[in-house]
Amino acid sequence: NLGSLSKAYEKEFKVGVALNTSQVSGEIPEATSLIAKHFNSATPENLLKWESVHPREEEYNFDPADQYVSFAEKNDMFIVGHTLVWHNQVPGWVFEDKKGNTLSSDRLLQRMKEHISTVVGRYKGQIDGWDVVNEAVLDQGGMRGSPWYKILGTDYIAKAFEYAHAADSSAELYYNDYNLWKTEKRQEVIRLVKQLQAKDIPIQGIGMQAHLGLRHPPVSKVEESIEAFSKLGVKVMITELDIDVLPDEEEGATANSLELNPYSEGLPDSVQQKLTERYVELFKLFKKHSTNIDRVTFWGLNDGQSWLNNFPVAGRTNYPLLFDREYNPKPALKALIDLQ
Ligand code: XIL
Repeated sequence: NLGSLSKAYEKEFKVGVALNTSQVSGEIPEATSLIAKHFNSATPENLLKWESVHPREEEYNFDPADQYVSFAEKNDMFIVGHTLVWHNQVPGWVFEDKKGNTLSSDRLLQRMKEHISTVVGRYKGQIDGWDVVNEAVLDQGGMRGSPWYKILGTDYIAKAFEYAHAADSSAELYYNDYNLWKTEKRQEVIRLVKQLQAKDIPIQGIGMQAHLGLRHPPVSKVEESIEAFSKLGVKVMITELDIDVLPDEEEGATANSLELNPYSEGLPDSVQQKLTERYVELFKLFKKHSTNIDRVTFWGLNDGQSWLNNFPVAGRTNYPLLFDREYNPKPALKALIDLQ
């Protein structure tokens, strides 16, 4: 009997998991009991994204989100909302009028406000923290040229936070992004947060997605960002942790050889061990900065349902998480609990 991961880290940070529709419906008993035992925070993997919750202008689809919130409440979890304003998984109609012309900035702002007020308002007092804006900044610095940015300019970010705060003033509000260990991207996010703070826009945290490789990036780069963000006086969260064990571009695989599926018969012991060591070195870092790190959330419960089987190319057999395809704990889980 291993004990519980979230209990082991209770004094340091929350330990969260991304949940999908089949998990929150409770139809997989193995999943339900592992989630309840090992995690004290939840993030919805897809069901609160714009295309899921608001597929057409006049139509909201709240059933999966309602199920998510009641599942997480029942299990006494800190509940995250993900995500309000993003360039992906947002329907095309959002940026167009009925004739298919690009919306004016006034009308797009109005639409964004309506969406945020409706979704955040519905779960007021229930969803504890929101990823308000996701992935607005480029790896090399500068703003991503998404439709949000093209139509509204940088100010869309401040507006999104204002609308979310107006809809639930007690919810924590976060900026969330990937590759925040990269120096230029880190600096851009720091500028962004300082601008918000200068305007008294409420922002309580920065979510560092952590879609990492087995060897890349070095923990020292992740640490630089944790330290720099902490200095802004906001909470730092590791929001989307998984470790891609397959060769990626950083490891010398070219775009074409990414199709390779070297471990379709099972994960070799040597790679399993490397995965454990990688999780351990990361958790040592998180523990070292636990006064500033509020939460560490895994991007999924078990390998079989991880998005990394389909990203960056489909049809891979990946092994990024703490539980295997049969819901058995991997050696990494025990190693993380034993670290305490
Ligand atoms: C991913 C989900 O895991 C997939 O199921 C979906 O098909 C695409 O989105 N950054 C984010 C997450 O903020 O919302 C993404 O989740 C992964 C990258």
